[in-house]
Amino acid sequence: MRKYNEDMRTIGHKIIRLGSTPSTNDYLKLLAGQNAEDGLVVTANEQTAGRGQGGRAWVSPQGSGLYCSVLLKPDFPVEYIGLLSLFPAVAVADTVVNLTGLRVNLKWPNDVLINTRKIAGILAETKIRDFKIQWAVIGIGVNVTNRLHDLDRFNNGAGSLYTETGTDFSVQTVLDLLIFQLNLVIKYDKFESWRAQLILRWQQLCGHMNRSVSGPSVPSGIFRGLDDAGRALVETPDGLQVVTGRFKHVDE
Ligand code: BTN
Repeated sequence: MRKYNEDMRTIGHKIIRLGSTPSTNDYLKLLAGQNAEDGLVVTANEQTAGRGQGGRAWVSPQGSGLYCSVLLKPDFPVEYIGLLSLFPAVAVADTVVNLTGLRVNLKWPNDVLINTRKIAGILAETKIRDFKIQWAVIGIGVNVTNRLHDLDRFNNGAGSLYTETGTDFSVQTVLDLLIFQLNLVIKYDKFESWRAQLILRWQQLCGHMNRSVSGPSVPSGIFRGLDDAGRALVETPDGLQVVTGRFKHVDE
């Protein structure tokens, strides 16, 4: 298996900076299809059709947030594909911890929250052929300077680094730190120990370990962490179940 070690292309070795684009994920997916290099990053000042999980929009006004996508060509066995959306969540969380000093919570699989407000989200899109991951485009959106009244118009419960700290951080600083953390989190010599460490760190950051969870497409029960492929484990009256759908409710 190919290693993500010092020989690999660094994430952000090349950055394409756009003014306005419909979606950095869509832009990078086109390049991925044209054989762009591992580690290429695309950022935009605004997105006019930013996309979120579950077909929802990701509101992306000019200069208020970080909108970026990262191209990866990992050599993981395809059954571990879920790790590709967990590792950026850990990198975003560690970026925000370093920047703000605040406790950051992850909500499975990759929502990033401060207090109870979601301040960042991740949209991982992959192409698989012959049971191999051809490429993954990891889209990361971080709300940086958005004000609460602007966020509430679109998405109750969302926050930004500003709403949670009272400080206007620069989007460029968030990007620089995030690229540093992504490179820290992705590098490994041995896949097995990397995977175990990633899952451990994700669980440390998780805000709903051993809490009740439920959702339309998942069984209700107690969240017990992740299995070794990064899937959620929910304890139900019928036993421990492996879950891939999203939770709607998490008991506080
Ligand atoms: C979520 O719903 O939590 C995922 C949000 C992902 C948003 C980012 S912003 C950069 C990239 N381009 C997109 O269109 N979406 C992702």
